[in-house]
Amino acid sequence: MTRDDRLPRDAQSILELAARSMFDLFATASEGMMLVDRHARVVWINDQYRRFLPALGFEREEDFVGHPVSSVVQNTQMHQVLATGKPILIDLLTNRAGTFVVSRIPLRDGDGTVIGVLGIVLFDHPETTLQPLITKFARLEQDLSEARRELANQRRTKYTFASFVGSSPAVQEVKRQARRAAQSASPVLLLGETGTGKELLAHAIHAASPRAGRPFVSVNVAAVPDTLLEAEFFGVAPGAYTGADRKGRDGKFRLADGGTLFLDELGDMPMSVQVKLLRALQEGEVEPLGSNRLVRFDVRVVAATSRDLAQLVREARFREDLYYRLNVLPIRVPPLRERRGDIPVLVEALCEDIAARSAGAQLEFSASALALLAAQVWRGNIRELRNVLEQLALRSDSPLIEADDVARVLADAGLPALPVPNGPVLADLTEHSEPATGVRPLAEQVDALERRAVAQALRETRGNRAAAARLLGMSRARLYDRLEAWGALSNEKTYV
Ligand SMILES: Nc1ncnc2c1ncn2[C@@H]1O[C@H](COP(=O)(O)OP(=O)(O)OP(=O)(O)O)[C@@H](O)[C@H]1O
Ligand SMILES: [Mg+2]
Repeated sequence: MTRDDRLPRDAQSILELAARSMFDLFATASEGMMLVDRHARVVWINDQYRRFLPALGFEREEDFVGHPVSSVVQNTQMHQVLATGKPILIDLLTNRAGTFVVSRIPLRDGDGTVIGVLGIVLFDHPETTLQPLITKFARLEQDLSEARRELANQRRTKYTFASFVGSSPAVQEVKRQARRAAQSASPVLLLGETGTGKELLAHAIHAASPRAGRPFVSVNVAAVPDTLLEAEFFGVAPGAYTGADRKGRDGKFRLADGGTLFLDELGDMPMSVQVKLLRALQEGEVEPLGSNRLVRFDVRVVAATSRDLAQLVREARFREDLYYRLNVLPIRVPPLRERRGDIPVLVEALCEDIAARSAGAQLEFSASALALLAAQVWRGNIRELRNVLEQLALRSDSPLIEADDVARVLADAGLPALPVPNGPVLADLTEHSEPATGVRPLAEQVDALERRAVAQALRETRGNRAAAARLLGMSRARLYDRLEAWGALSNEKTYV
Protein backbone atom coordinates (compact mmCIF):
# COMPACT_ATOMS: atom_id res chain seq x y z
CA MET A 1 0.00 0.00 0.00
CA THR A 2 1.15 3.55 -0.65
CA ARG A 3 2.54 5.45 2.27
CA ASP A 4 0.79 8.77 2.87
CA ASP A 5 3.38 11.18 4.31
CA ARG A 6 0.72 13.69 5.33
CA LEU A 7 -0.67 11.31 7.96
CA PRO A 8 0.64 11.37 11.55
CA ARG A 9 2.71 8.31 12.52
CA ASP A 10 -0.12 6.82 14.63
CA ALA A 11 -2.63 7.04 11.86
CA GLN A 12 -0.08 5.64 9.44
CA SER A 13 0.47 2.54 11.51
CA ILE A 14 -3.28 2.08 12.02
CA LEU A 15 -3.73 2.25 8.27
CA GLU A 16 -1.01 -0.34 7.78
CA LEU A 17 -2.69 -2.58 10.34
CA ALA A 18 -6.02 -2.16 8.58
CA ALA A 19 -4.43 -3.10 5.28
CA ARG A 20 -2.88 -6.19 6.83
CA SER A 21 -6.18 -7.33 8.40
CA MET A 22 -8.02 -6.80 5.15
CA PHE A 23 -5.40 -8.87 3.40
CA ASP A 24 -5.75 -11.63 6.04
CA LEU A 25 -9.51 -11.49 5.72
CA PHE A 26 -9.35 -11.92 1.97
CA ALA A 27 -6.75 -14.62 2.32
CA THR A 28 -9.03 -16.72 4.51
CA ALA A 29 -12.46 -15.75 3.15
CA SER A 30 -11.58 -16.01 -0.54
CA GLU A 31 -11.11 -19.17 -2.54
CA GLY A 32 -7.51 -18.39 -3.36
CA MET A 33 -4.95 -15.64 -3.93
CA MET A 34 -1.91 -15.17 -6.11
CA LEU A 35 0.70 -12.49 -6.59
CA VAL A 36 2.51 -11.57 -9.77
CA ASP A 37 5.57 -9.32 -9.92
CA ARG A 38 6.14 -6.39 -12.25
CA HIS A 39 7.15 -8.80 -14.99
CA ALA A 40 3.80 -10.63 -14.69
CA ARG A 41 5.49 -13.71 -13.24
CA VAL A 42 3.67 -15.65 -10.53
CA VAL A 43 5.66 -15.17 -7.31
CA TRP A 44 3.29 -16.52 -4.67
CA ILE A 45 0.06 -18.46 -4.22
CA ASN A 46 -1.72 -19.27 -0.98
CA ASP A 47 -2.83 -22.69 0.31
CA GLN A 48 -6.36 -22.34 -1.05
CA TYR A 49 -5.10 -21.45 -4.50
CA ARG A 50 -2.95 -24.57 -4.56
CA ARG A 51 -6.19 -26.62 -4.84
CA PHE A 52 -6.73 -25.29 -8.37
CA LEU A 53 -3.35 -26.41 -9.70
CA PRO A 54 -4.40 -29.92 -10.85
CA ALA A 55 -7.43 -28.51 -12.68
CA LEU A 56 -5.16 -25.94 -14.35
CA GLY A 57 -2.94 -28.81 -15.46
CA PHE A 58 -0.08 -28.68 -12.92
CA GLU A 59 1.11 -31.45 -10.61
CA ARG A 60 3.85 -29.51 -8.86
CA GLU A 61 3.82 -26.00 -7.48
CA GLU A 62 7.23 -25.19 -9.02
CA ASP A 63 5.74 -25.74 -12.49
CA PHE A 64 3.35 -22.91 -11.72
CA VAL A 65 5.02 -20.43 -9.39
CA GLY A 66 7.93 -18.63 -11.04
CA HIS A 67 6.33 -18.77 -14.52
CA PRO A 68 4.69 -16.00 -16.55
CA VAL A 69 1.06 -15.86 -15.47
CA SER A 70 -0.24 -15.84 -19.05
CA SER A 71 1.46 -19.16 -19.74
CA VAL A 72 -0.04 -20.92 -16.70
CA VAL A 73 -3.53 -19.35 -16.41
CA GLN A 74 -5.51 -19.08 -19.65
CA ASN A 75 -7.47 -15.89 -20.24
CA THR A 76 -5.80 -14.08 -17.37
CA GLN A 77 -6.01 -10.29 -17.34
CA MET A 78 -3.27 -9.71 -14.75
CA HIS A 79 -0.89 -8.15 -17.29
CA GLN A 80 -3.60 -5.66 -18.25
CA VAL A 81 -3.79 -4.47 -14.64
CA LEU A 82 0.01 -4.22 -14.60
CA ALA A 83 -0.05 -2.12 -17.74
CA THR A 84 -2.84 0.26 -16.77
CA GLY A 85 -2.42 0.34 -12.99
CA LYS A 86 -6.22 0.15 -12.74
CA PRO A 87 -7.89 -2.51 -10.60
CA ILE A 88 -10.52 -4.86 -12.01
CA LEU A 89 -12.65 -5.19 -8.93
CA ILE A 90 -14.95 -7.87 -10.18
CA ASP A 91 -14.80 -10.03 -13.26
CA LEU A 92 -15.63 -13.49 -14.51
CA LEU A 93 -12.70 -15.62 -15.57
CA THR A 94 -13.33 -18.81 -17.49
CA ASN A 95 -10.55 -21.29 -18.26
CA ARG A 96 -9.92 -25.02 -18.23
CA ALA A 97 -10.37 -25.11 -14.43
CA GLY A 98 -13.88 -23.61 -14.60
CA THR A 99 -15.53 -20.22 -14.21
CA PHE A 100 -14.48 -17.98 -11.33
CA VAL A 101 -15.42 -14.62 -9.93
CA VAL A 102 -12.12 -12.81 -9.57
CA SER A 103 -10.72 -9.50 -8.44
CA ARG A 104 -7.36 -8.00 -9.51
CA ILE A 105 -5.71 -5.22 -7.54
CA PRO A 106 -2.50 -3.41 -8.53
CA LEU A 107 0.22 -3.16 -5.88
CA ARG A 108 2.25 0.04 -5.70
CA ASP A 109 5.47 0.94 -3.97
CA GLY A 110 6.06 4.08 -1.91
CA ASP A 111 6.35 6.17 -5.08
CA GLY A 112 3.11 4.86 -6.51
CA THR A 113 4.84 2.73 -9.15
CA VAL A 114 3.00 -0.50 -9.97
CA ILE A 115 5.21 -3.34 -8.80
CA GLY A 116 2.82 -6.25 -9.07
CA VAL A 117 -0.77 -7.43 -8.98
CA LEU A 118 -2.75 -9.29 -6.37
CA GLY A 119 -5.26 -11.72 -7.87
CA ILE A 120 -8.12 -12.97 -5.72
CA VAL A 121 -10.51 -15.77 -6.56
CA LEU A 122 -13.61 -14.55 -4.75
CA PHE A 123 -15.83 -17.49 -5.66
CA ASP A 124 -15.31 -20.71 -7.40
CA HIS A 125 -18.39 -22.52 -8.68
CA PRO A 126 -20.13 -19.20 -9.28
CA GLU A 127 -22.73 -21.20 -11.18
CA THR A 128 -24.09 -22.31 -7.81
CA THR A 129 -23.33 -19.33 -5.60
CA LEU A 130 -24.06 -16.64 -8.17
CA GLN A 131 -26.61 -18.40 -10.32
CA PRO A 132 -28.87 -15.41 -11.11
CA LEU A 133 -25.92 -13.19 -11.99
CA ILE A 134 -24.31 -15.78 -14.22
CA THR A 135 -27.58 -16.52 -16.00
CA LYS A 136 -28.11 -12.85 -16.67
CA PHE A 137 -24.56 -12.48 -17.88
CA ALA A 138 -24.90 -15.42 -20.24
CA ARG A 139 -28.17 -14.07 -21.59
CA LEU A 140 -26.78 -10.59 -22.15
CA GLU A 141 -23.78 -12.05 -23.88
CA GLN A 142 -26.06 -14.06 -26.16
CA ASP A 143 -28.27 -11.03 -26.87
CA LEU A 144 -25.19 -9.03 -27.72
CA SER A 145 -23.84 -11.54 -30.19
CA GLU A 146 -27.28 -11.86 -31.81
CA ALA A 147 -27.57 -8.08 -32.09
CA ARG A 148 -24.09 -7.91 -33.60
CA ARG A 149 -24.95 -10.57 -36.15
CA GLU A 150 -28.19 -8.82 -37.07
CA LEU A 151 -26.40 -5.52 -37.45
CA ALA A 152 -23.75 -7.04 -39.66
CA ASN A 153 -26.49 -8.58 -41.80
CA GLN A 154 -28.30 -5.31 -42.11
CA ARG A 155 -25.19 -3.47 -43.03
CA ARG A 156 -24.09 -5.92 -45.64
CA THR A 157 -24.87 -4.47 -49.01
CA LYS A 158 -27.43 -6.73 -50.55
CA TYR A 159 -27.53 -5.14 -53.96
CA THR A 160 -25.57 -2.51 -55.81
CA PHE A 161 -26.29 -0.76 -59.09
CA ALA A 162 -24.40 -3.55 -60.81
CA SER A 163 -27.10 -5.99 -59.61
CA PHE A 164 -29.66 -3.98 -61.57
CA VAL A 165 -29.16 -5.75 -64.86
CA GLY A 166 -29.86 -3.96 -68.12
CA SER A 167 -28.27 -1.50 -70.49
CA SER A 168 -31.25 -0.25 -72.47
CA PRO A 169 -31.59 3.53 -72.62
CA ALA A 170 -34.49 3.29 -70.14
CA VAL A 171 -32.33 1.45 -67.60
CA GLN A 172 -29.38 3.77 -68.13
CA GLU A 173 -31.64 6.70 -67.35
CA VAL A 174 -33.01 5.03 -64.19
CA LYS A 175 -29.51 4.28 -62.97
CA ARG A 176 -28.37 7.82 -63.68
CA GLN A 177 -31.25 9.26 -61.66
CA ALA A 178 -30.73 6.75 -58.86
CA ARG A 179 -27.00 7.49 -58.63
CA ARG A 180 -27.76 11.17 -58.32
CA ALA A 181 -30.43 10.48 -55.72
CA ALA A 182 -27.94 8.39 -53.72
CA GLN A 183 -25.77 11.46 -53.21
CA SER A 184 -28.65 13.59 -52.01
CA ALA A 185 -30.21 13.52 -48.55
CA SER A 186 -33.74 14.12 -49.83
CA PRO A 187 -36.48 11.49 -49.88
CA VAL A 188 -36.60 9.27 -52.97
CA LEU A 189 -39.84 7.94 -54.42
CA LEU A 190 -39.63 4.82 -56.59
CA LEU A 191 -42.62 4.37 -58.86
CA GLY A 192 -43.22 1.39 -61.05
CA GLU A 193 -45.26 -1.71 -61.68
CA THR A 194 -44.91 -4.82 -59.62
CA GLY A 195 -41.66 -6.74 -60.08
CA THR A 196 -39.78 -3.98 -61.87
CA GLY A 197 -36.97 -3.89 -59.32
CA LYS A 198 -37.96 -1.07 -56.96
CA GLU A 199 -36.72 -2.87 -53.88
CA LEU A 200 -33.48 -3.81 -55.57
CA LEU A 201 -32.99 -0.18 -56.54
CA ALA A 202 -33.72 1.01 -52.99
CA HIS A 203 -30.90 -1.22 -51.70
CA ALA A 204 -28.58 0.02 -54.42
CA ILE A 205 -29.32 3.66 -53.61
CA HIS A 206 -28.51 3.03 -49.97
CA ALA A 207 -25.32 1.18 -50.87
CA ALA A 208 -24.14 4.06 -53.05
CA SER A 209 -25.06 6.73 -50.51
CA PRO A 210 -22.88 8.19 -47.76
CA ARG A 211 -25.07 6.17 -45.35
CA ALA A 212 -23.89 2.83 -46.77
CA GLY A 213 -22.12 1.89 -43.54
CA ARG A 214 -25.27 2.44 -41.50
CA PRO A 215 -28.42 0.31 -41.34
CA PHE A 216 -30.88 -0.23 -44.18
CA VAL A 217 -34.22 -0.93 -42.53
CA SER A 218 -37.36 -1.70 -44.48
CA VAL A 219 -41.03 -1.70 -43.59
CA ASN A 220 -43.47 -3.33 -45.97
CA VAL A 221 -46.54 -1.25 -45.26
CA ALA A 222 -48.86 -3.74 -46.96
CA ALA A 223 -47.55 -6.65 -44.90
CA VAL A 224 -48.05 -5.10 -41.46
CA PRO A 225 -51.61 -4.98 -40.07
CA ASP A 226 -52.85 -1.37 -39.87
CA THR A 227 -53.20 -1.54 -36.09
CA LEU A 228 -49.56 -2.48 -35.64
CA LEU A 229 -48.03 -0.04 -38.10
CA GLU A 230 -47.63 2.76 -35.63
CA ALA A 231 -45.76 0.59 -33.14
CA GLU A 232 -43.66 -0.73 -36.02
CA PHE A 233 -42.62 2.77 -37.08
CA PHE A 234 -42.37 4.61 -33.81
CA GLY A 235 -41.72 1.90 -31.22
CA VAL A 236 -43.31 1.16 -27.87
CA ALA A 237 -42.24 2.54 -24.50
CA PRO A 238 -41.48 0.03 -21.72
CA GLY A 239 -44.61 -0.77 -19.75
CA ALA A 240 -46.95 0.62 -22.41
CA TYR A 241 -48.51 -2.82 -22.77
CA THR A 242 -48.69 -5.85 -20.57
CA GLY A 243 -47.39 -9.11 -21.93
CA ALA A 244 -44.88 -9.60 -24.64
CA ASP A 245 -44.14 -5.92 -25.23
CA ARG A 246 -43.68 -5.14 -21.54
CA LYS A 247 -40.03 -4.35 -22.09
CA GLY A 248 -40.67 -1.89 -24.88
CA ARG A 249 -39.47 -2.07 -28.44
CA ASP A 250 -37.56 0.22 -30.76
CA GLY A 251 -39.40 1.48 -33.82
CA LYS A 252 -37.98 1.24 -37.32
CA PHE A 253 -37.15 4.96 -37.34
CA ARG A 254 -34.94 4.39 -34.35
CA LEU A 255 -33.40 1.22 -35.81
CA ALA A 256 -32.62 3.02 -39.05
CA ASP A 257 -30.97 5.94 -37.25
CA GLY A 258 -28.07 7.21 -39.33
CA GLY A 259 -29.13 5.03 -42.26
CA THR A 260 -31.96 4.52 -44.72
CA LEU A 261 -35.59 3.67 -44.00
CA PHE A 262 -37.28 1.93 -46.93
CA LEU A 263 -41.07 2.41 -46.95
CA ASP A 264 -42.27 -0.29 -49.29
CA GLU A 265 -45.84 -0.27 -50.68
CA LEU A 266 -46.29 3.30 -49.49
CA GLY A 267 -49.61 3.59 -51.34
CA ASP A 268 -51.14 1.06 -48.93
CA MET A 269 -50.62 3.20 -45.86
CA PRO A 270 -53.76 3.98 -43.85
CA MET A 271 -54.62 7.68 -43.47
CA SER A 272 -54.23 7.63 -39.68
CA VAL A 273 -50.61 6.55 -39.98
CA GLN A 274 -49.95 8.97 -42.83
CA VAL A 275 -50.61 11.91 -40.49
CA LYS A 276 -48.13 10.62 -37.94
CA LEU A 277 -45.56 9.77 -40.56
CA LEU A 278 -45.75 13.26 -41.99
CA ARG A 279 -45.30 14.79 -38.54
CA ALA A 280 -42.32 12.55 -37.82
CA LEU A 281 -40.68 13.52 -41.12
CA GLN A 282 -41.30 17.21 -40.52
CA GLU A 283 -40.06 17.25 -36.95
CA GLY A 284 -37.29 14.63 -37.21
CA GLU A 285 -38.69 13.17 -33.99
CA VAL A 286 -40.94 10.28 -33.06
CA GLU A 287 -42.91 9.58 -29.92
CA PRO A 288 -42.95 5.87 -29.03
CA LEU A 289 -46.39 4.56 -28.09
CA GLY A 290 -47.14 5.01 -24.39
CA SER A 291 -44.30 7.43 -23.90
CA ASN A 292 -44.32 11.19 -23.63
CA ARG A 293 -40.73 11.52 -24.63
CA LEU A 294 -39.67 12.48 -28.14
CA VAL A 295 -36.86 10.51 -29.72
CA ARG A 296 -34.80 12.24 -32.41
CA PHE A 297 -33.73 10.34 -35.48
CA ASP A 298 -31.63 10.96 -38.55
CA VAL A 299 -33.03 8.89 -41.37
CA ARG A 300 -33.13 9.18 -45.16
CA VAL A 301 -36.41 7.84 -46.53
CA VAL A 302 -36.71 5.85 -49.74
CA ALA A 303 -40.32 4.97 -50.53
CA ALA A 304 -41.76 2.72 -53.23
CA THR A 305 -45.17 1.98 -54.59
CA SER A 306 -46.77 0.33 -57.58
CA ARG A 307 -49.95 2.34 -57.07
CA ASP A 308 -50.73 5.58 -58.84
CA LEU A 309 -50.08 7.92 -55.92
CA ALA A 310 -51.27 11.05 -57.72
CA GLN A 311 -54.55 9.30 -58.42
CA LEU A 312 -54.83 8.22 -54.77
CA VAL A 313 -54.31 11.85 -53.79
CA ARG A 314 -57.12 12.90 -56.12
CA GLU A 315 -59.36 10.28 -54.55
CA ALA A 316 -58.41 11.61 -51.10
CA ARG A 317 -56.95 8.23 -50.17
CA PHE A 318 -53.45 9.57 -49.84
CA ARG A 319 -52.55 12.81 -48.09
CA GLU A 320 -51.45 15.49 -50.48
CA ASP A 321 -48.98 17.02 -48.00
CA LEU A 322 -47.29 13.67 -47.42
CA TYR A 323 -47.19 13.06 -51.17
CA TYR A 324 -45.33 16.34 -51.73
CA ARG A 325 -43.03 15.65 -48.83
CA LEU A 326 -41.95 12.32 -50.34
CA ASN A 327 -42.16 13.17 -54.03
CA VAL A 328 -38.91 15.14 -54.02
CA LEU A 329 -36.83 12.80 -56.19
CA PRO A 330 -39.30 10.59 -58.05
CA ILE A 331 -37.80 7.81 -60.15
CA ARG A 332 -39.98 5.86 -62.54
CA VAL A 333 -38.79 2.29 -62.91
CA PRO A 334 -39.86 1.15 -66.39
CA PRO A 335 -41.72 -2.10 -66.97
CA LEU A 336 -40.04 -4.85 -68.92
CA ARG A 337 -42.13 -4.26 -72.03
CA GLU A 338 -40.51 -0.84 -72.39
CA ARG A 339 -37.08 -2.39 -72.43
CA ARG A 340 -37.33 -5.67 -74.23
CA GLY A 341 -33.77 -5.25 -75.41
CA ASP A 342 -32.69 -6.10 -71.84
CA ILE A 343 -34.43 -9.47 -71.89
CA PRO A 344 -31.49 -11.56 -73.17
CA VAL A 345 -29.07 -10.21 -70.55
CA LEU A 346 -31.73 -10.46 -67.85
CA VAL A 347 -32.44 -14.07 -68.80
CA GLU A 348 -28.76 -14.82 -68.60
CA ALA A 349 -28.25 -13.08 -65.24
CA LEU A 350 -31.36 -14.64 -63.70
CA CYS A 351 -30.45 -18.12 -64.97
CA GLU A 352 -26.97 -17.73 -63.56
CA ASP A 353 -28.44 -16.87 -60.18
CA ILE A 354 -30.98 -19.71 -60.31
CA ALA A 355 -28.25 -22.20 -61.24
CA ALA A 356 -26.01 -20.98 -58.41
CA ARG A 357 -28.80 -21.30 -55.85
CA SER A 358 -29.90 -24.74 -56.97
CA ALA A 359 -26.41 -26.00 -57.81
CA GLY A 360 -27.79 -27.03 -61.20
CA ALA A 361 -26.53 -26.39 -64.71
CA GLN A 362 -27.20 -22.99 -66.21
CA LEU A 363 -29.92 -22.92 -68.88
CA GLU A 364 -29.17 -21.91 -72.43
CA PHE A 365 -31.82 -20.75 -74.88
CA SER A 366 -32.23 -21.29 -78.58
CA ALA A 367 -32.88 -18.10 -80.54
CA SER A 368 -36.55 -18.97 -81.00
CA ALA A 369 -36.97 -19.76 -77.30
CA LEU A 370 -35.46 -16.40 -76.42
CA ALA A 371 -37.67 -14.64 -78.96
CA LEU A 372 -40.72 -16.25 -77.40
CA LEU A 373 -39.70 -14.96 -73.97
CA ALA A 374 -39.08 -11.52 -75.42
CA ALA A 375 -42.51 -11.45 -77.03
CA GLN A 376 -44.34 -11.81 -73.72
CA VAL A 377 -46.13 -8.95 -72.01
CA TRP A 378 -44.77 -9.84 -68.53
CA ARG A 379 -47.33 -8.16 -66.34
CA GLY A 380 -45.36 -9.29 -63.30
CA ASN A 381 -42.20 -8.02 -64.95
CA ILE A 382 -38.88 -9.39 -63.78
CA ARG A 383 -40.39 -11.36 -60.93
CA GLU A 384 -42.69 -13.12 -63.38
CA LEU A 385 -39.85 -13.71 -65.84
CA ARG A 386 -37.81 -15.18 -63.03
CA ASN A 387 -40.62 -17.53 -62.03
CA VAL A 388 -40.90 -18.83 -65.58
CA LEU A 389 -37.13 -19.38 -65.74
CA GLU A 390 -37.25 -21.22 -62.41
CA GLN A 391 -40.00 -23.46 -63.76
CA LEU A 392 -37.92 -24.13 -66.86
CA ALA A 393 -34.91 -25.03 -64.72
CA LEU A 394 -37.04 -27.39 -62.62
CA ARG A 395 -38.82 -29.07 -65.47
CA SER A 396 -36.28 -29.38 -68.24
CA ASP A 397 -34.13 -32.45 -68.56
CA SER A 398 -31.60 -30.70 -70.70
CA PRO A 399 -30.04 -27.30 -70.05
CA LEU A 400 -30.72 -26.32 -73.67
CA ILE A 401 -34.17 -24.73 -73.84
CA GLU A 402 -36.20 -24.74 -77.04
CA ALA A 403 -39.25 -22.67 -77.94
CA ASP A 404 -41.52 -25.66 -77.21
CA ASP A 405 -40.27 -25.87 -73.62
CA VAL A 406 -40.94 -22.17 -73.14
CA ALA A 407 -44.41 -22.41 -74.70
CA ARG A 408 -45.34 -25.28 -72.36
CA VAL A 409 -44.25 -23.46 -69.21
CA LEU A 410 -45.93 -20.23 -70.31
CA ALA A 411 -49.17 -22.07 -70.96
CA ASP A 412 -49.05 -23.76 -67.54
CA ALA A 413 -48.37 -20.40 -65.92
CA GLY A 414 -51.49 -19.04 -67.60
CA LEU A 415 -49.49 -16.77 -69.85
CA PRO A 416 -50.74 -16.75 -73.40
CA ALA A 417 -47.95 -17.73 -75.74
CA LEU A 418 -47.99 -14.91 -78.21
CA PRO A 419 -46.97 -15.78 -81.72
CA VAL A 420 -43.37 -14.96 -82.30
CA PRO A 421 -43.29 -12.13 -84.75
CA ASN A 422 -40.49 -12.13 -87.21
CA GLY A 423 -40.38 -8.37 -87.27
CA PRO A 424 -40.25 -6.06 -84.33
CA VAL A 425 -39.21 -8.21 -81.40
CA LEU A 426 -36.33 -9.95 -83.04
CA ALA A 427 -35.27 -6.64 -84.46
CA ASP A 428 -35.34 -5.20 -80.92
CA LEU A 429 -33.22 -8.02 -79.66
CA THR A 430 -30.62 -7.65 -82.31
CA GLU A 431 -30.70 -3.93 -82.54
CA HIS A 432 -27.16 -3.52 -81.20
CA SER A 433 -25.64 -6.13 -83.43
CA GLU A 434 -27.50 -5.36 -86.62
CA PRO A 435 -25.08 -4.85 -89.48
CA ALA A 436 -25.18 -1.36 -90.85
CA THR A 437 -27.40 -1.22 -93.88
CA GLY A 438 -26.98 1.68 -96.25
CA VAL A 439 -28.27 5.02 -95.06
CA ARG A 440 -31.87 5.59 -96.02
CA PRO A 441 -33.76 8.90 -96.04
CA LEU A 442 -34.58 10.06 -92.50
CA ALA A 443 -38.34 10.18 -93.13
CA GLU A 444 -38.28 6.55 -94.19
CA GLN A 445 -36.34 5.51 -91.09
CA VAL A 446 -38.64 7.47 -88.80
CA ASP A 447 -41.63 5.92 -90.47
CA ALA A 448 -40.23 2.42 -90.05
CA LEU A 449 -39.47 3.09 -86.40
CA GLU A 450 -42.96 4.42 -85.85
CA ARG A 451 -44.55 1.37 -87.51
CA ARG A 452 -42.47 -0.92 -85.36
CA ALA A 453 -43.46 0.87 -82.13
CA VAL A 454 -47.13 0.92 -83.04
CA ALA A 455 -47.07 -2.75 -84.03
CA GLN A 456 -45.49 -3.65 -80.73
CA ALA A 457 -47.98 -1.59 -78.74
CA LEU A 458 -50.90 -3.16 -80.57
CA ARG A 459 -49.56 -6.62 -80.00
CA GLU A 460 -49.20 -5.99 -76.30
CA THR A 461 -52.65 -4.58 -75.94
CA ARG A 462 -54.10 -7.33 -78.11
CA GLY A 463 -55.24 -4.82 -80.67
CA ASN A 464 -56.83 -2.39 -78.21
CA ARG A 465 -56.07 0.90 -79.97
CA ALA A 466 -56.99 3.18 -77.08
CA ALA A 467 -54.64 1.28 -74.76
CA ALA A 468 -51.94 1.19 -77.43
CA ALA A 469 -52.18 4.96 -77.87
CA ARG A 470 -51.83 5.39 -74.11
CA LEU A 471 -48.77 3.15 -74.01
CA LEU A 472 -47.17 5.14 -76.79
CA GLY A 473 -48.08 8.45 -75.21
CA MET A 474 -49.89 9.60 -78.35
CA SER A 475 -53.48 10.65 -78.92
CA ARG A 476 -55.95 8.10 -80.22
CA ALA A 477 -56.69 10.37 -83.16
CA ARG A 478 -53.06 10.42 -84.19
CA LEU A 479 -52.81 6.64 -83.91
CA TYR A 480 -55.82 6.23 -86.22
CA ASP A 481 -54.23 8.73 -88.50
CA ARG A 482 -51.03 6.73 -88.78
CA LEU A 483 -52.83 3.42 -89.21
CA GLU A 484 -54.86 4.92 -91.97
CA ALA A 485 -51.77 6.27 -93.66
CA TRP A 486 -50.26 2.80 -93.64
CA GLY A 487 -53.50 1.34 -94.96
CA ALA A 488 -53.64 -0.74 -91.85
CA LEU A 489 -57.10 0.13 -90.58
CA SER A 490 -58.82 -2.46 -92.69
CA ASN A 491 -56.31 -5.17 -91.92
CA GLU A 492 -54.21 -4.30 -88.94
CA LYS A 493 -53.29 -7.97 -88.49
CA THR A 494 -50.38 -7.37 -90.77
CA TYR A 495 -49.00 -5.25 -88.00
CA VAL A 496 -49.81 -7.45 -85.05
N1 LIG B 1 -32.79 -5.01 -63.24
C1 LIG B 1 -32.81 -6.17 -62.58
N2 LIG B 1 -31.80 -7.04 -62.71
C2 LIG B 1 -31.83 -8.22 -62.08
N3 LIG B 1 -32.80 -8.63 -61.28
C3 LIG B 1 -33.82 -7.80 -61.07
C4 LIG B 1 -33.88 -6.52 -61.70
N4 LIG B 1 -34.99 -5.91 -61.31
C5 LIG B 1 -35.62 -6.77 -60.51
N5 LIG B 1 -34.93 -7.90 -60.35
C6 LIG B 1 -35.34 -9.07 -59.57
O1 LIG B 1 -36.73 -9.22 -59.73
C7 LIG B 1 -37.40 -9.51 -58.52
C8 LIG B 1 -38.41 -8.42 -58.22
O2 LIG B 1 -37.74 -7.21 -57.93
P1 LIG B 1 -38.19 -6.25 -56.73
O3 LIG B 1 -38.65 -7.05 -55.56
O4 LIG B 1 -37.11 -5.28 -56.50
O5 LIG B 1 -39.44 -5.58 -57.44
P2 LIG B 1 -40.47 -4.50 -56.88
O6 LIG B 1 -40.53 -3.42 -57.88
O7 LIG B 1 -40.13 -4.15 -55.48
O8 LIG B 1 -41.83 -5.30 -56.95
P3 LIG B 1 -43.16 -5.14 -56.01
O9 LIG B 1 -43.77 -3.81 -56.34
O10 LIG B 1 -44.02 -6.28 -56.46
O11 LIG B 1 -42.71 -5.26 -54.62
C9 LIG B 1 -36.32 -9.63 -57.49
O12 LIG B 1 -35.97 -10.98 -57.39
C10 LIG B 1 -35.18 -8.83 -58.07
O13 LIG B 1 -33.94 -9.27 -57.61
MG1 LIG C 1 -41.16 -4.51 -53.73
